[in-house]
Amino acid sequence: MAVASRLDTGRAFAKVLLPTLAKGVIVRRRSAAAMAEKVRADAVAVATVKRFHERYGPEPLRLRVTGRSIALLLDPVDVARLLAESPEPFALATREKKAALAHFQPHGALISTGPERAHRRAVNEDVLRPGKIDVVGIVADEADLLLRHARSVGELTWDAFAQAWWRAARRIVLGSFARQDGELTDLLQELRGDANWAYLHPRREALRRRFEQRLRGHLERGEPGSLASLAPADELLDQAPHWLFAFDAGGIATMRALAIGGAGEAGIWESVRLWPTTPVILRESTERTRWHGTWLPAGTTFVVFLPYFHRDPDRLSYADAYAPENWPAPSDPGLVPFSGGPGICPGRDLVLVAGSTMLDALRDHLEVPTLRQPLPVTLNHFGLTFVTRSND
Ligand code: HEM
Repeated sequence: MAVASRLDTGRAFAKVLLPTLAKGVIVRRRSAAAMAEKVRADAVAVATVKRFHERYGPEPLRLRVTGRSIALLLDPVDVARLLAESPEPFALATREKKAALAHFQPHGALISTGPERAHRRAVNEDVLRPGKIDVVGIVADEADLLLRHARSVGELTWDAFAQAWWRAARRIVLGSFARQDGELTDLLQELRGDANWAYLHPRREALRRRFEQRLRGHLERGEPGSLASLAPADELLDQAPHWLFAFDAGGIATMRALAIGGAGEAGIWESVRLWPTTPVILRESTERTRWHGTWLPAGTTFVVFLPYFHRDPDRLSYADAYAPENWPAPSDPGLVPFSGGPGICPGRDLVLVAGSTMLDALRDHLEVPTLRQPLPVTLNHFGLTFVTRSND
């Protein structure tokens, strides 16, 4: 198995991993997102990984990092294996994720292991299963109010959209009483800001307790028609921070889907294929594992850089185009915006329903699409604005 030269290891960090970190993994930073678009950061990153593939071949590429074993995956078939064999021996709970997510969801499924993880995963799968609450009704309601606002000012900006999207998210997760509780999501936003820094930022336990107390109040009401009604509050308190956090990605995906003229659930799928909101999927092996005849030690971190797998025009004829026909069952095993295998996003069906309801309610009333092909590899969602249709 190939080991990257020191220079190429440096390139992997400087051109692929650090720019992704800089945009903010847990919550996007506005200025870094704008800069990334300006310098076409993801196109540079994809080209860098492609060169690794040409130089070293398709097997996982080991990076030369003292004291750590890190392997960058370069073949879609290896991605499928890594995800299929999670969480054992390829754990979702990697040290980076633990350090980041402990800031606001120390008992989330994603950073748990063993029987605790199995239980927490089951809670997620059960509560997030679609059809249990009227997601369409809630989102359609908020879309309606948002459209009224957009028509009155003549445009839809990211900020106006985000406010409506968060109101819908709070209603879905916690019920209508929480609809106006912007402070709850503001507190979470602050904690997510710390989480961007993982171990480099001290944990603010007092702030987390304030957030948790507010969240508990909503969960204990167990309002009918919300996810909070579907399991005991104690159980949900550990998982709901992830749900609120992850709704952000759903909103980003929805606005980008608008920009490409997307429609329906396939529009959301394509949005996260073109611009994956989880750009890097990480796994950490719990034992030594064999890859193409080479053993990699226990504790190896496996890195899947999704833009490389989703946007390579040499492998995918539609790499930079809107191609909704790919979904929901793409033939390429490297197309995994919601991850795959036993660790696949348990909220995907719910967010596809929420996102597509919002998308379809808005698209006919706005001047879209605003982007042409070939679609850019980096798209700063903060900068998206749509003009309302004049005949509306
Ligand atoms: C566009 C929106 C979303 C995308 C692209 C997305 C993508 C993903 C991905 C890639 C993972 C795997 C992470 C990893 O392996 O480290 C994941 C995990 C997860 N997602 Fe989502 N997600 C989205 C929205 C949501 C929503 C709205 C919820 C809840 C309401 C949710 C709940 C979860 C949970 C609980 C996990 C952890 C699963 C586990 O530990 O097994 N996601 N998501």
